[in-house]
Parts: sequence; C-alpha cells; structure tokens
Amino acid sequence: MSQALLIASDVCLAFGGVVAADHIDFALNDGERLAVIGQNGAGKTTFINICTGYLQPTVGRIVFNGHDITGKKPRSIVKLGMGRSFQLPQLFAGHSVQKCLEIAAAARGGRLSWLASLSDSVDYHEIMDTLELIGLRSAAHELAGELPEGHKKLLDVAMALMLRPKLIIMDEPTSGVSSQDKHGLMALVMQALDERKVTSWFVEHDVDIVSRYATRVAAWIDGKIAADGDPQQVLKNAQVREQVLGLPPC
Ligand SMILES: Nc1ncnc2c1ncn2[C@@H]1O[C@H](COP(=O)(O)OP(=O)(O)OP(=O)(O)O)[C@@H](O)[C@H]1O
Ligand SMILES: [Mg+2]
Repeated sequence: MSQALLIASDVCLAFGGVVAADHIDFALNDGERLAVIGQNGAGKTTFINICTGYLQPTVGRIVFNGHDITGKKPRSIVKLGMGRSFQLPQLFAGHSVQKCLEIAAAARGGRLSWLASLSDSVDYHEIMDTLELIGLRSAAHELAGELPEGHKKLLDVAMALMLRPKLIIMDEPTSGVSSQDKHGLMALVMQALDERKVTSWFVEHDVDIVSRYATRVAAWIDGKIAADGDPQQVLKNAQVREQVLGLPPC
C-alpha cells in the first residue's frame, strides 16, 4: 500500500489581489509520478515554492515524510529528502558538469563553505554513476553554462539526485527543449528516478509527455486543483479540456 509522502492542508497564498494558492488540499503518495498541468499563471510554481520552502503560505500546513515543514527554510527541507529542479535551471555556470555535482554532494553534507577542499570529500563513484544514469558522463568536463538547453535540464536533475532525495519536484523539465528532444530527455530522467526509487512530481505543458510518463495528473486552475487522478480521466475532464488544454469537450 502506498503512503502519503507529502500532505498539504488548506494552503493559501495571495500576491496583492492575485490568489495564487486558494485553500489547496493535496497528498502525494510514495512511488507516484505526478504531472501538474495548468495555464500560465495558474499557480503551479507558487505551490512548488511553498512546498519547497521558497515561499511561506499565509494559511495551511505542509507535512513531508512525517515532518511538519511549514515555515522551514529550503535547505532544511532538502535535508529531509526533497529535491527540486527549476523552470530555469539553477547551475554553477562557470563550473564543469562534474564540479556542479561535487558542489551538490557537498551541500548535502553541509560542506559548502569548504569548496576549496571539495575534491577530498566527495564520492567520485556516486558522481560518475549519476552522470552515467542521466546520460551526461561524456559531458563531465564541459562547462555547465555552455551545455545545450536539454543537457542543462538533465544536469539540474542530476544535481538534485546528488542530494539522495525521496521526492524530486521538477518545474517544467522540458521547457526550452526542442519537441524532438523532449521524449529522450524525459525517458532518461524517469529511468534515473525509477532506478534511484525517487517519487516525482513534474510540471508539464505537453500532453503527450504527460500521457506517457505520469501515473497521475493534477490540473491547476486559478490557484486551485480543478481535477486530480488517473491521467486519461483528468485529460478527458470537460473543465480541464476547456480551461487548461483549450479543447472542446470530448
Ligand atoms: N513573487 C511574486 N510576486 C507577485 N506575484 C506573483 C509572484 N509569483 C507569482 N505571482 C503571480 O501568481 C500567479 C501564479 O504564478 P505562478 O508562477 O505560480 O504560475 P504558474 O502556473 O507557474 O505559471 P507558468 O506556467 O507561467 O509558469 C500569477 O498571477 C503570477 O503573476
Ligand atoms: Mg511556473
């Protein structure tokens, strides 16, 4: 039986007059691959920012892996096993791909202030294994900032994997990636997450990607979850078709 890994209860946040999270109740189970869909401005990133500690809800509570993380800083939440990749990848652009993973590993151990002695304290086997898993081993010595967009996305996920997370939340892992490269990227990411037994939640606008890789879909409309459940059911939902996908009812 799957267990709730993350539970959000009655989460609210407004920016001036814009209600970006409107009394959200949500639970993510261990082993799920959740795709979040929604129009621009629906509140998908805001909810991620709340769950990962980048924003504080005005009302509500978030519990992750049995810990109340409401109001906790992103760094403390990462240490509890929640990794994240960003809508715009957050890389150390001037460092090599391998060094980026070394820095991520050091962050896991709380050793970021000892950058100078990183090479003495990292597990190269784990770094190379992670690069292999995500398809970036041959790019280990390339500069992160000079990678093609798809490889930047993969590197962002690889850095999150170095934190040995239970859950990875990926905000638009395929945005900025050409349509012919999106499926290859998602296949690599999902294979890596399966291998490391990481639960995942990803924001995605491409319905083909959602249908292929998600075991569950949640549709955001105006700061609320309008539909949540089996992918094919949610994608057939009349409100989702009209207001999220811009399609007529089935
Ligand atoms: N820091 C902020 N300050 C003010 N308004 C914000 C802030 N962050 C988000 N918003 C507003 O909150 C609403 C939800 O934004 P959010 O970024 O969560 O949407 P989204 O669903 O991720 O959209 P997209 O698909 O474009 O990434 C939008 O109206 C946005 O303009
Ligand atoms: Mg967003």
